[in-house]
Amino acid sequence: MSTKLLLKYDHIPNINRLEVYKQHGGYASAEKAIKTMTSDAIVDEVKKSGLRGRGGAGFPTGMKWSFLAKPPGVARYLVCNADESEPGTFKDRYLMERNPHLLLEGMLCSSFALGANTSYIYIRGEYFYIVPILEKAIEDAKAAGYLGKNILGTDYNLEIYVQVGGGAYICGEETALLESLEGKRGNPRMKPPFPAVAGLWGCPTVVNNVETIASVVSILENGGDEYAKLGVGKSTGTKLISASGHINKPGVYEIELGKVSVEEFINSDEYCGGVWKGRKLKAVVAGGSSVPILPTHLILQTSDGKPRMMSYESLGEGGFATGTMLGSGGFIVMDETVNIAENLYTFNRFYHHESCGQCSPCREGTGWMEKITHSIISGHGKNSDIDLLWDIQSKIDGKTICPLGEAAAWPVASAVRHFRDDFEKLIH
Ligand SMILES: Cc1cc2nc3c(=O)[nH]c(=O)nc-3n(C[C@H](O)[C@H](O)[C@H](O)COP(=O)(O)O)c2cc1C
Repeated sequence: MSTKLLLKYDHIPNINRLEVYKQHGGYASAEKAIKTMTSDAIVDEVKKSGLRGRGGAGFPTGMKWSFLAKPPGVARYLVCNADESEPGTFKDRYLMERNPHLLLEGMLCSSFALGANTSYIYIRGEYFYIVPILEKAIEDAKAAGYLGKNILGTDYNLEIYVQVGGGAYICGEETALLESLEGKRGNPRMKPPFPAVAGLWGCPTVVNNVETIASVVSILENGGDEYAKLGVGKSTGTKLISASGHINKPGVYEIELGKVSVEEFINSDEYCGGVWKGRKLKAVVAGGSSVPILPTHLILQTSDGKPRMMSYESLGEGGFATGTMLGSGGFIVMDETVNIAENLYTFNRFYHHESCGQCSPCREGTGWMEKITHSIISGHGKNSDIDLLWDIQSKIDGKTICPLGEAAAWPVASAVRHFRDDFEKLIH
């Protein structure tokens, strides 16, 4: 099985057009699913594949689907999370822009498996230019009988709607997204109840990331077992990595999980092409701005001296003391000229701006962290400010309704833990 599943069509001109997508095997998985498989059989294949949610948390997709409540006579929904607002992450944009039918086919297979007759793509406001691409693809798929009533001559009906968000990071959090989709302010909900029981308009709902849904197409094409042969351990299949920062070749790359080391990913010409301008590597944020930032010696090696690999387990090895997370795969490389306290100020500003304000530790704490890092980088900091930053992040972590609190706390904790020198340089 090829290790290019999501980007295998990348070199094909006009793959965004239905006829071209079909010429290259497009919609074959949907036909197979709808005409020959039961919903339960599809959920089983996804379980067997070991696919984990690509939106950041890495929760097993098949298991999530099997939690969906099925009260008789109540609608169920699939919502595709295309909010993609995690700094450093731009792979969903790439997929939707280039190959919208892959996402639609994934949605068709997934909606059928979940028994949903209405599904939504919730897309971030800044991606307004992708909306017509998705809408044209929906229109063409409908005209060809892949959406609408009696799909492919069966009694299955599905409508897919695109809903544009207002550009708030918090609306990527699944329950805030559902609030926003219902036309309300995007404040996260208390859980339980989880969306699988009471989601959109109180009905059972699955929220999945764009990449997760697109991956379902190759799982059904080749079978869950084949998909699970790719990757290592509980990191099965392939993952899109958005690579940015101080590298020679920024871009979106598809890797087989667990088979590429971080060092190879940074230095090989197949991927990032090395740190730019011949400089040395200083630090990497491996999974989007929310995950702990690691210095060179920790990102390249695990605690037993083995190369750190691009997988959920290997990046997480050592916990937060020495490890990090794969997250959404937003891989930001920083060279030796970067002062991490300065970089942290940018992150802190972002989280303060994006906090919904519902929980006081996050609303107040993100503001304090922004002010303190600003004071440090503008030469007014004190040594005690570093400990104050540590103290504040510890009072946010785990104490909020949604994980935006953690997303704001972890970059601060890791910067203080691993790069105290950078703060001290600016203080003295
Ligand atoms: C503050 C915050 C922002 C998030 N933003 C996104 C996002 O932009 N896209 C996404 O897929 N998941 C995002 N998530 C994760 C979602 O809540 C949810 O876990 C995900 O959409 C589930 O899909 P998956 O299981 O396919 O990964 C965010 C979570 C938090 C706490």
